[in-house]
Order: sequence, then structure tokens, then C-alpha cells
Amino acid sequence: MSPSSLSRLSGSPAEQPADGGAPRHVAIIMDGNGRWAAARGLPRLEGHRRGVEALRRAVRSAYDLGVRYLTLYSFSSENWTRPAEEVSDLLNLLRLFIRRDLTDLHRENVRVRVIGEREGLPRDIAKLLDDAESLTRANTGLNLVVAFNYGGRQEIVSAVRRIATAVQEGRLDPAAIDVASISDHLDTADMPDPDLVIRTSGELRLSNFLLWQSAYAEFVFLPRFWPDFDRADFEEAIASFRSRQRRYGGRAARAGA
Ligand code: IPE
Ligand code: IPE
Ligand code: MG
Repeated sequence: MSPSSLSRLSGSPAEQPADGGAPRHVAIIMDGNGRWAAARGLPRLEGHRRGVEALRRAVRSAYDLGVRYLTLYSFSSENWTRPAEEVSDLLNLLRLFIRRDLTDLHRENVRVRVIGEREGLPRDIAKLLDDAESLTRANTGLNLVVAFNYGGRQEIVSAVRRIATAVQEGRLDPAAIDVASISDHLDTADMPDPDLVIRTSGELRLSNFLLWQSAYAEFVFLPRFWPDFDRADFEEAIASFRSRQRRYGGRAARAGA
């Protein structure tokens, strides 16, 4: 890997944020809505509804804690395999969220971005996502990245297809393909890699989330269901992040070392 492509790893020492170590990009796998509801004898839909409230709290906390990018995994490429009723509930909650919250987010200077496959989505959803992005495009506050119909493997496949097309058309020399070329073809092309990935619910896996981008992320797994996630949890995760030593395969910077 060339030095120039190494320097593209966000959060590398040269790019550490200057605000007391708040991670610049936090990505969250919001998991456990169903189990939260089951534990209370409630329908799953109630868990998802309460999950949207936790999402609003997380946006507020990220903003207050100085996080610049907050990526939220809200629906995976694989979540279509759930029963039709649950899929439809989740789509309806997304519709409601955008209709109810977009004006406030815009007023708060939040820039909304959406990653994931847009093709094949119900037309009204695709339009709501487009509208949210275009309305807030010029905002300079928190970047709220919604991962919807997102899968890390699918994202890499699309990137590879576009790169292969460029090669086929003679616009790109295969020998010139490097880490940056792949990064630049992902949905996250102009965003920093996540510094911190949080997963709630106690599951210890990535479930196809930001596979490429998380190469050097720090991970925090919380034994709490997503609807219970609050500001104290967010602060705890950030405190844990701050206690980590990121080495990127190099050696710890220590006096006299
Ligand atoms: C997360 O909660 C929401 C989505 C995946 C859309 P789950 O619905 O996965 O809840 P559990 O993991 O079954 O408890
Ligand atoms: C990951 O959670 C997807 C989202 C949080 C949107 P899942 O509940 O779908 O993941 P698995 O099935 O437990 O791996
Ligand atoms: Mg789950």
C-alpha cells in the first residue's frame, strides 16, 4: 500500500480530531427492537416504534458530543427476508420519520445522507430519501447517514462492477486500482471511515455493515436493546473509544520507544 493510500485511512494519526478525542464518525448497528418488545409481551412493531425514539435521542447525543458523522444501520439488504408485515411496518416507520423529522433536522443544520441500494425501492420511499438529501445538501452541521437497504458486500459488488466497466472501456488501467479506487466507488466515497462502531443487543457480529470502511474501526458491543439506548450509553461507548490505542498496524507512539 502506498503512503498516499495509507493517509486516506480516516482517523489515522494525522487526522485525529482536535476536540478531546471525540470520534469523528460513529456508526451504530441499532439492534434488539424485537427482543425489547418480546421481553415486555408487546408486538415487535412497538419495539421498532420505540427504536425510532432511541434514534432521535442518538442524533441529539451525537450532536452534543461533537460527533461529525453518525451512521445508523436502519434496514439491511437481508432484512427483506423478514415476514411481509414486519417489512411493511419498517418501511412505514421510515416514511413517518422522514415526514415528521426532516424539517427539524434541516433547521438544526443536519445534513442527511442515505447509503444503500436505491434501485428497486418503493417509488415513494426513494423519493423521500432523495428529497431528504437534496433539502439538506448545503447543511454544515452533523452528517446523519442513514444506511437503508444497505449491505456491505452488495456495496462492494457495485463498486467492483463500475471499476470493471471503466477498465473494459479503457478508462482505467488495472494496475492503477488501489485502496482509494475502491473507497471512491463506495456509497461512502466522500465520508471518513467510521472511528467507532457500536452494536446494541449483545450480538457480536457486523451483519454486513460497513465491511470495507470498518477495517480500522474500534468496536463497542453493548448488552442493551436498542430502544433503551440513551445518552449515558453513548457517552460510555465514547469513553471506551477514548481509552483505546489505535495503531493501524504500526507501533505505539511512546516517549523513548
Ligand atoms: C433492529 O431490531 C431493527 C432492524 C433490524 C430493522 P431487530 O428487529 O433486529 O430486533 P431483534 O434483533 O430481533 O431483537
Ligand atoms: C442488523 O441487524 C441490521 C440492522 C440493525 C438494521 P439484524 O437483526 O438484521 O442482524 P442479524 O440477523 O442478527 O445478524
Ligand atoms: Mg436483530
